[in-house]
Amino acid sequence: AAGGALAGRHVLITSGPTHEPIDPVRYIANRSSGKQGHAIAAAAAAAGARVTLVSGPVSLPDPAGVETVHVESAREMLAAVEAALPADLAIFAAAVADWRVADAAPEKMKKDGGALRPLSLVENPDILATVAQRTGGRPGFVVGFAAETQNVIDYARAKLARKGCDLIVANDVGGTGVMGGDANTVHLVTPDGVETWPTLPKEEVASRLVAHLARQIAGKAE
Ligand code: C5P
Repeated sequence: AAGGALAGRHVLITSGPTHEPIDPVRYIANRSSGKQGHAIAAAAAAAGARVTLVSGPVSLPDPAGVETVHVESAREMLAAVEAALPADLAIFAAAVADWRVADAAPEKMKKDGGALRPLSLVENPDILATVAQRTGGRPGFVVGFAAETQNVIDYARAKLARKGCDLIVANDVGGTGVMGGDANTVHLVTPDGVETWPTLPKEEVASRLVAHLARQIAGKAE
């Protein structure tokens, strides 16, 4: 798509869940399917961008025309993101696990005989905040997602400030089957205000978001 709205741009996108190992055969995960992030990657490629997609474990095919880097844990995702910089636009759509198991067992844990071993958790790095708060090499425009089940917009506003990103795509994942589903209702939250979109297929959210972000980037001084 030479001459597309994102021609000549490098767009970095995270998508999917992360898997945080408990032992070699068990992990902690979440219900993210990767559908929204992968659709954004495809839409950005269709708009002419060079796209790097850093994907957690999903059952989706790699989008055509996109360089896809496969990772499992949050720490691997951060390393892959940093290796993919610089970028003109970074979109953090992955549902990164907030915590990992502090001391993942090197061998499969056995229940026989032993006392139950409680899992102790430690916080994962915040990939979005780490990249958005870089002093050198920060992407020109940084977008986060906020999946919430209540107070969606208030939390998104707080998140925008705390993480240091330029825009938060807030969505309500309470009840309606957004996670794993094919439709999404999103609110675009920036320091200037909130723009609410109708419920749309995730592909349509993706193409509208890419068009919106291409305009934002074009409007910024180079
Ligand atoms: O704080 P919360 O997890 O709700 O923030 C969601 C946003 O932050 C998403 O854009 C997600 O991709 C990003 N995030 C991240 N690394 C984490 C946690 C969240 O990049 N460890």
